[in-house]
Order: sequence, then C-alpha cells, then structure tokens
Amino acid sequence: MKAWLVHDWCTPDDMQWADLPLPQPGPGQVRVKVAAAALNFLDTLMIGGRYQERPPLPFAPGVELSGTVDAVGGDTDLALGERVCGLVSYGAFAEYACVDAADLSRVPAAVDLPTAAALPVVYGTAHHALLERGRLEPGQTLLVLAAAGGVGLATVQLGKALGLNVLAAAGGADKCALARQHGAAQAFDSTAPDWVEQVKAATGGRGVDAVLDPVGGDYTAAALRLLAVGGRLLIVGFAAGAIPQIPANRLLLKELSAVGVVWGPWRRQNRTAAAAQMASLFELWQKNAIAPLVSQRRPLREAPAAIADLGARRTTGKILLIPGADQ
Ligand SMILES: NC(=O)c1ccc[n+]([C@@H]2O[C@H](COP(=O)([O-])OP(=O)(O)OC[C@H]3O[C@@H](n4cnc5c(N)ncnc54)[C@H](OP(=O)(O)O)[C@@H]3O)[C@@H](O)[C@H]2O)c1
Repeated sequence: MKAWLVHDWCTPDDMQWADLPLPQPGPGQVRVKVAAAALNFLDTLMIGGRYQERPPLPFAPGVELSGTVDAVGGDTDLALGERVCGLVSYGAFAEYACVDAADLSRVPAAVDLPTAAALPVVYGTAHHALLERGRLEPGQTLLVLAAAGGVGLATVQLGKALGLNVLAAAGGADKCALARQHGAAQAFDSTAPDWVEQVKAATGGRGVDAVLDPVGGDYTAAALRLLAVGGRLLIVGFAAGAIPQIPANRLLLKELSAVGVVWGPWRRQNRTAAAAQMASLFELWQKNAIAPLVSQRRPLREAPAAIADLGARRTTGKILLIPGADQ
C-alpha cells in the first residue's frame, strides 16, 4: 500500500511517499481501508517531533480517518465491510490503517463516509469544551477565537445548535463571513487593531460568558479582558505557538475560571460518555444542526502541501486527504 512516511523529524516537504506491506490488525483491532484522512493542527507538530507524543521512527503521520473495515483482528464486534470513523495514534495518511476498535464509531448510512473523517476531533473537542468542561447553558454568550479553523468552526456550529449566542473572531473578512454563515450572530476581524473593543461594545460592555481559545499567545489576554464577571476561559490549544501566562489577579477580580480542555485523554478514560458524545453528534448532523465543513478534498499524494497550508493558517474548516484519488 501507499503511505507517507516520516523517517526523521522533518518538515512536511521531507516526508517520503512509500510502498509498505499491508498492516495486520492485532487483537482488539481492525484494518480500515481509508476513505479519507482528515488533517489536524497536531500533524504539523508531530511530523517535526514537536508534539507531546513522538511515535517511533519511521512512522506514517495522520490521526483521524474514515473508511470500511477490511480485516478483523479478533476481540471486537466490528464486522468486515462496516463503515467507521475515528482516531489512531498515527498512521492515517495511508491507504490502510490498523485501528483499535474502541477508537472507532460506526458511521450512519445517511452520512457521507469521507466527510465523517472530519467529525471526531473537532466536534468531540467542541462538545467536551462547551458541555462537559464549560457547562454552558442556552442563552449564554460564547466568543469563539480562530472561528473559521477546524475546532473554531465546529464550536460555532455546535454552540448555535445548543442555543448559545455565538460571537466569532477570525483573521480577515472572508473567515468572518464563513463564521457567520455557520451560525455566529456576529463576527469580528481579529486582524483589526480595535477588535477587542468592538466585541466588548457588541456585548453592551458586559463581556461574554465564555471564550473558546484554541490560539493562545496574545489572544488569551484579549479573552480575559472580554469575559464577563464569573466567565470561563476554555483553553483548547496554542496554535499561535506561544503558551500564555494567566495573571491570577485577573481571575480574582472578575471571579473568572480558566478551564483546561483536552478531549483525547478524556475520551480514552470515559469510553461510555465518549461513545454517547459521538452518537449525539451524528444525531445533530443528521438533523442538519451541525454539518462539517470540508473546504478541500485533496489526493493523499498532496499531503505535504495540504499540511503546509494548514500550518500557515491558509485553511478553513477541515481538509481531507483521499487515497487513490490520483492513481
Ligand atoms: N485540547 C484539545 O482537545 C484539542 C483538540 C483539537 C485541537 N486542539 C488544538 O486547537 C488548536 C486549533 O486546532 P485546529 O485544528 O482548529 O487548527 P486550524 O484549523 O489550523 O485553526 C487554527 C487557527 O488558529 C489561528 N492562528 C492564530 N495564530 C496562528 C499561528 N501563528 N499559526 C497558525 N494558526 C494561527 C488561525 O486562525 P485565524 O487566521 O482566524 O487567526 C488558524 O486558522 C491547535 O493548537 C490544536 O492543537 C486541541
């Protein structure tokens, strides 16, 4: 089979397009014939050895996929031919991948199989942030930073579906328009020097009940300024690279909470709740209350260019890599 390989920590351009033997599933695993692999921000880090988990070299990157079960390793109730989507530690940027059955969800017949690869990470994270960690209630106001990105756009959609008043901040007019199309009541261009004042004014000076922050850096200080008394900062990631320091006096003065959100480990430690989360997300999708935005479907062969685009903030929503599309 064809797969992308990282032989040594590198940039996307230095990955190698390799021929590998078909992987064999172990106990509790199935082999998935990949319909689509979805890109995630962590791919940009893992390839360079800058992610917290470093796979043994050489490895095929990619952590999120959909496809059909092609071989079964035993100790699982998944059967040959079933349609699935889910997570692997690495190895999704390939034509086939062996996956722990516990990390897969069945894809309903009405859902497009490649698009299902775009669901688990960003909507799972959004759900975990807004409900399990943020405990947001209908009618509350949420500000989503980097609102046109993968996690951001999923959170805008899910926030709207949950009855929140969603405000969005994103870099540029096009990204703001996209956030509005996907459910934001108002969107603010975060490249404008006065965007924080604009958001504050839009809330009548009160501020927002929660901020979803996948960016970090200077955005986190802005988020603290924009929170209303008793508000929650939902810390999701540091796409800007810099890990912000949070001044404790800011938390004290407005009785704010800074809340960490990390979906992957939560999912592994709470299998039943995580399965219920995926079921509820598929249900919302089938009611059109959420709809993953796939802004690009590219042949698997184009993974290096696609990953570079994601790292340079040139992408919106989710990007899919399709095996066999160029062969
Ligand atoms: N905690 C969790 O469980 C969890 C789960 C999934 C992802 N994450 C993290 O969440 C973050 C976002 O992931 P994603 O998949 O949504 O990524 P994404 O689609 O690439 O979106 C990231 C966005 O961040 C903004 N950004 C600001 N400064 C940036 C910079 N210097 N470089 C790149 N982007 C910058 C950009 O939006 P603008 O142009 O609009 O500013 C960009 O589109 C990542 O840090 C990821 O690791 C965390």
